[in-house]
Amino acid sequence: MNKIVVAIDGYSSCGKSTIAKQLAKHAGYTYVDTGAMYRAVALYVSQHLTIDEFQTLTDAEKTSFLEKNIRISFLQTADGQHVCLNGEDVEKQIRTLETGNLASQVSTIGVVRRFLVAQQQQMGTEKGIVMDGRDIGTVVFPQAELKIFLTATAQVRAERRYLELKQKGINAVYEDVLHDVLDRDYRDTHRAESPLRQAEDAIVLDNTHLTQDEQLRKVVEIFESKIK
Ligand code: DC
Repeated sequence: MNKIVVAIDGYSSCGKSTIAKQLAKHAGYTYVDTGAMYRAVALYVSQHLTIDEFQTLTDAEKTSFLEKNIRISFLQTADGQHVCLNGEDVEKQIRTLETGNLASQVSTIGVVRRFLVAQQQQMGTEKGIVMDGRDIGTVVFPQAELKIFLTATAQVRAERRYLELKQKGINAVYEDVLHDVLDRDYRDTHRAESPLRQAEDAIVLDNTHLTQDEQLRKVVEIFESKIK
């Protein structure tokens, strides 16, 4: 059967990774969480200099800093995919609100985007991939056979994120999480470099009122009709 590329884009905390993982499992495809890659870059940069200091480097210096110092890989573990930074599993560190915010900042830098987009495109050369992010259907794989754009209200997304943090034992205040979601929406949609936008040929899925099972059924239906 023909393998395809599935691009899933959308706002932060709208469940992109959940549905992307579920679809990858259903299809027997590889799942790639590109947000985790931006988070890993943000973690490394913030551990070695501030984001502001990184910003003051020339493009050539930024590129050389990234290429010399940062190797991102994914590790399959019993509790799912973990991201590794230079061979070290940093899954827990990258999931904090703070690293999410730093990731949102570094993702506005063109050099960082080019560094990661090249790696993402490489991962998709053999197809059979489900990749989620903000620019997958527009920049990374504009030729993807299936593009899904996920949306949900900011309040529902903040509630889901709040519960997820709580389950992971991370302390958070709902209002802070909502504030953070709104901030990130603004930055993701207003940055000059590859802002979040819906690809013209993307299928829009608003999951505000959908359960995870309902959403999965819809997405599997769309996927199956595509690969026929
Ligand atoms: O999906 P996430 O919250 O893990 O992403 C972290 C940040 O990285 C988010 O603010 C947007 C950015 N990002 C991006 O600009 N492009 C992508 N393809 C994926 C994430």
